[in-house]
Amino acid sequence: MIDYQLQGKTAIVTGGVSGIGLAVAEMLAASGARIAVWDLKQEAVDATVSDLKAKGAEAIGIALDVTDEAAVEAAVKRTVETFGGVDIAVNNAGISGPAASSGDYPIDGWRRVIDVNLTSVFLCQRAQIQAMRAAGKGGSIINMASILGQVGYAGSSAYAAAKHGVVGLTQTAAWEHAADQIRINAVGPGFISTPLLETMEPKVRATLEGRHAMKRLGTPEEVAALVAWLSSDAASFATGTYYAIDGGYLAV
Ligand SMILES: NC(=O)c1ccc[n+]([C@@H]2O[C@H](COP(=O)([O-])OP(=O)(O)OC[C@H]3O[C@@H](n4cnc5c(N)ncnc54)[C@H](O)[C@@H]3O)[C@@H](O)[C@H]2O)c1
Repeated sequence: MIDYQLQGKTAIVTGGVSGIGLAVAEMLAASGARIAVWDLKQEAVDATVSDLKAKGAEAIGIALDVTDEAAVEAAVKRTVETFGGVDIAVNNAGISGPAASSGDYPIDGWRRVIDVNLTSVFLCQRAQIQAMRAAGKGGSIINMASILGQVGYAGSSAYAAAKHGVVGLTQTAAWEHAADQIRINAVGPGFISTPLLETMEPKVRATLEGRHAMKRLGTPEEVAALVAWLSSDAASFATGTYYAIDGGYLAV
């Protein structure tokens, strides 16, 4: 595995017990970062932290709902108190939400998807920026968008709207906080083989595979490698950008 040289750095990974977030937590830990895993359920968070520690990493787990402003602020505070600061934050927690056309989209489903996939990124990023600014050492924030942060997808209006919002939020915050030495980027995976897509029928999966130039889905590790690079000092001139990692999905 590549060493992204994150020794001495602390990284928050939201949605860090599953899929892309888990692969990110493992890859950042393997490059020497201390990891704060944030996710919904205490048991799952504890299991992930045990696994990371068994592989030699320093890690803590915080069970929270990333849409809860007070919980997010408390989680940043605990991360800083435990590890002395926060250098990297990967705002990755997300849900797919209901599948329905815009004309019929359930309103509670819309509100939930916007809350979990967009408002949570704003809340986490807000608290992380405050902690990074207070420490005065800068940092790198990576917000998980999607190919659906660039194009639409029938049946996924709330998801696409939220992910387009994540890109706009990222670009704006990058301008606002460049002077604080905080780099902020968005990552846009194509369809990735994770539990989020587990319930998909084989026929639907085959159709999705065909929409990528590479005719396959991606792996969580392929996304994690981009996140690890953006986290590292090797990406020192990268800010305010949407980075596709999509097997050619958008290259049509
Ligand atoms: N899998 C894909 O094809 C794909 C493609 C593009 C973008 N993404 C994005 O990547 C991110 C991770 O997706 P994944 O496929 O690894 O999904 P996943 O379901 O495997 O993992 C998502 C994690 O987020 C956590 N989470 C959900 N809501 C939360 C909340 N309110 N508070 C705290 N934690 C919460 C879940 O518990 C879970 O551990 C998401 O933002 C998703 O939109 C996924």
